[in-house]
Amino acid sequence: MNDGNAAERVIQDLRRAATAAVVGSRLPSVRDLTARHHASPVTVAAAIRALVREGVVEARPGQGTYVAARPGDHADPARGDLSWQTVALGARRSGEEELQALLAVPPAGAIALSGGYLDPELQPSAALGAALARAARQPGAWLRGPAEGRAELRAWFARDLGLRADDMVICPGGQAAISTTLRALAAPGDTLLVESPTYLGALAAARAAGLVVVPVPADAEGVRPDQLRAAFTRTGARLFYCQPLHANPTGATLAAHRRSEVLDAVREAGSFLIEDDYARDLTIDGTAPPPLAAGDADGHVVYLRSLTKPAAPGLRIAAIGARGPAGARLRAARLLDDLFVSGPLQQAALELVTSPAWDRHRRALRRELRARRDALLAALRRHLPLHDGPVPDGGLHLWVRLDPDLDDTAVATAAAAHGVIVFPGRPWFAAEPPAPHLRLTYAASPPELMDEAVQRLKRAVEASASSRRAL
Ligand SMILES: Cc1ncc(COP(=O)(O)O)c(C=O)c1O
Repeated sequence: MNDGNAAERVIQDLRRAATAAVVGSRLPSVRDLTARHHASPVTVAAAIRALVREGVVEARPGQGTYVAARPGDHADPARGDLSWQTVALGARRSGEEELQALLAVPPAGAIALSGGYLDPELQPSAALGAALARAARQPGAWLRGPAEGRAELRAWFARDLGLRADDMVICPGGQAAISTTLRALAAPGDTLLVESPTYLGALAAARAAGLVVVPVPADAEGVRPDQLRAAFTRTGARLFYCQPLHANPTGATLAAHRRSEVLDAVREAGSFLIEDDYARDLTIDGTAPPPLAAGDADGHVVYLRSLTKPAAPGLRIAAIGARGPAGARLRAARLLDDLFVSGPLQQAALELVTSPAWDRHRRALRRELRARRDALLAALRRHLPLHDGPVPDGGLHLWVRLDPDLDDTAVATAAAAHGVIVFPGRPWFAAEPPAPHLRLTYAASPPELMDEAVQRLKRAVEASASSRRAL
């Protein structure tokens, strides 16, 4: 390999990419560039340094290479000189970029195995439309209702939990529920325990709240109670964020024999368990166990449930349930964030979940999710046997492990180039990932596309493997 030529190739490639992209976009990683140009990491690093000196790219240690601000961007008289903001704002918060990537719209022609919500075909659009129309016709629909939310909706969220309507507060979606809870119950510098891996939006919210995130090992039966106890003892944490049902991204459900052990560990630590019950209506096989909140006598569980996942992302209605001073703090924190949530949207949510159409939708959803999950599993068995764990019995995603020599981010990039959108595993881990993974969202595409999706993914995995072998 002629390293001089390789350096020049890397410089040209990055310069082209930087010119085409907007300021602040992330450029290919050192790993991608070494693979793509058969160059050593030292050569790639030297090429990046040369472009940093020219002001074309910006290297952010530990994060990657980004398109640098162009001189004209700062000094465009029509737009003002915004360069002072760079100094005023300081370092960017980590995790926000991954959250943006999670919501990215797949390009035309690509098959989506990503996204995190039901694809439009699975959303109860007609029932939602009818519910919103009924809500809008109600007298006083647009008036200000109670700040904590409409009483009947709070009662609906509270039923089966052993909570009262007064323990609930309505908020605009699950992400808002997580952010508010973390900010209301912890102060910057406090520790948050999380299952590993876990929802990257919870990790981002925790970091934005200034919390120290400590991962606790989990397996196919959910979080490991022995490790949870050890983590409480070592850190003195007072908060544990947990998804006991069909966890995102792994699909794991907390095993029946672990439930009381987990609650005991939380109780003994004098801690709160934040139960994110995002998948309550997404069980595919069997019957979902009740929420942990239903067996919590002394107010340790703070319960979160959102309607965006089983209905549609635009139905931004969720609830937080908590008792005692924690409940009072959460209701006060919600006021600070939003005052209150749109009345017509709350009423539409109530109309939807109490209509006969809701049960019909949930039954149809169960059948559809099963067909999609099984089609994806069958296609993987046929073409690319990545899935070796237990089959998730609910949720929207399949979590698969890659060959240890592969880079999950490079595979996801190659997959996009081959026309299938998947999400790399790395951002779901609060610490070093034990192995490269991908999250494949079966809810995002119809069963008849799964075979083609997996064949495209297979070509991407092979391309990534051969570029690594060429190094
Ligand atoms: C586990 C989990 N909790 C909460 C959310 C937030 O959902 P939303 O704010 O759309 O209700 C998500 C979205 O992906 C999620 O996966």
